[in-house]
Amino acid sequence: MQAIEITHPGAPDVLKICERPMPALKAGEVLIKVHAAGVNRPDVLQRTGNYPVPPGASDIPGLEVAGEIIDGDVSGSGFKIGDRVCALVQGGGYAEYCAAPAAQCLPVPKGWSMLEAASLPETFFTVYSNLFERARLSGDEVLLVQGGSSGIGVTAIQMAHALGHRVIATAGTDDKCRACEALGAERGINYRTEDFVEVVKSLTGGKGADVILDMVAGDYVAREIECMADDGRLVIIALLGGAKGTIDFGQILRRRLTVTGSTLRPRPVAFKQMVADKLRARVWPLLESGQIKPVIFQSFPLAEAAAAHTLMETSTHVGKIMLTVA
Ligand SMILES: NC(=O)c1ccc[n+]([C@@H]2O[C@H](COP(=O)([O-])OP(=O)(O)OC[C@H]3O[C@@H](n4cnc5c(N)ncnc54)[C@H](OP(=O)(O)O)[C@@H]3O)[C@@H](O)[C@H]2O)c1
Repeated sequence: MQAIEITHPGAPDVLKICERPMPALKAGEVLIKVHAAGVNRPDVLQRTGNYPVPPGASDIPGLEVAGEIIDGDVSGSGFKIGDRVCALVQGGGYAEYCAAPAAQCLPVPKGWSMLEAASLPETFFTVYSNLFERARLSGDEVLLVQGGSSGIGVTAIQMAHALGHRVIATAGTDDKCRACEALGAERGINYRTEDFVEVVKSLTGGKGADVILDMVAGDYVAREIECMADDGRLVIIALLGGAKGTIDFGQILRRRLTVTGSTLRPRPVAFKQMVADKLRARVWPLLESGQIKPVIFQSFPLAEAAAAHTLMETSTHVGKIMLTVA
């Protein structure tokens, strides 16, 4: 089969089309004929040598695909050979064929194309598990999404808004802020020209955000603590601004704050199956009713994966960057 490999760590042009053997299936896995695959920032980190491939995972990049199940162990999964699915995978998405645990497959939502469905798994599993499992976002709580125009950000805004929560988002340009508002954020904050701490406090009557989804960390954490509501929860999912910062533990103590985080990729299949089940029950109906829409910025043929990574690194995109395979 044709696939994209990382010939050595480096700039986007280390991504080269190659011939690889078909994936070998393990117990509980299905073989997907890939129609489209999503590009995610962790793929960029993997390409530059900053995100080691977990043991047993394919070294081919790509964490999400959509396509047709053509072989494998479908017993007990509710799927059959020929079904159109999207799947969260541990690697191997940038290829014509990809192995996926059946437990990590979800049906292509009614009314969605394969390309659109391939944009779902990585950000929907990540956002759902962090907002609703780790941070327990509920009721009329206010969510602050840092990086609102990212693939993760557009998912978080739409999902939390569709489930009835107030959402505020930050982004790096005024245009990106307006895009966040069009997706359901009540206010996009341009973090380059405005102080998100002040804006969040003012929008919440001084109370602060109940939950913050953060991909920046570093010196953001101290500022986020300043604009968290009492009993607030901060979930760190990436370290784009650095892994270290100085925080006032007194605030955590006095105001009962929680600082937590997670990475999805190394979690076991059983955890991802639990998230898949919850997504299917709670979020898939919102995709099929049109309350949550695909946000695809641009797609590239598989052979042009390097151009897709170059675009992601310019950070001019709003939403998802995709690869079309078949
Ligand atoms: N923990 C997990 O399980 C998990 C899973 C998936 C993804 N992630 C992480 O989540 C992040 C988003 O992933 P993605 O695929 O959605 O990537 P993406 O679309 O490339 O988004 C990255 C975003 O980060 C923003 N950004 C970069 N540096 C920033 C800074 N210093 N301050 C504020 N914003 C900054 C950029 O917006 P501006 O240009 O407007 O600043 C851009 O929107 C990545 O860091 C990724 O590694 C984590």
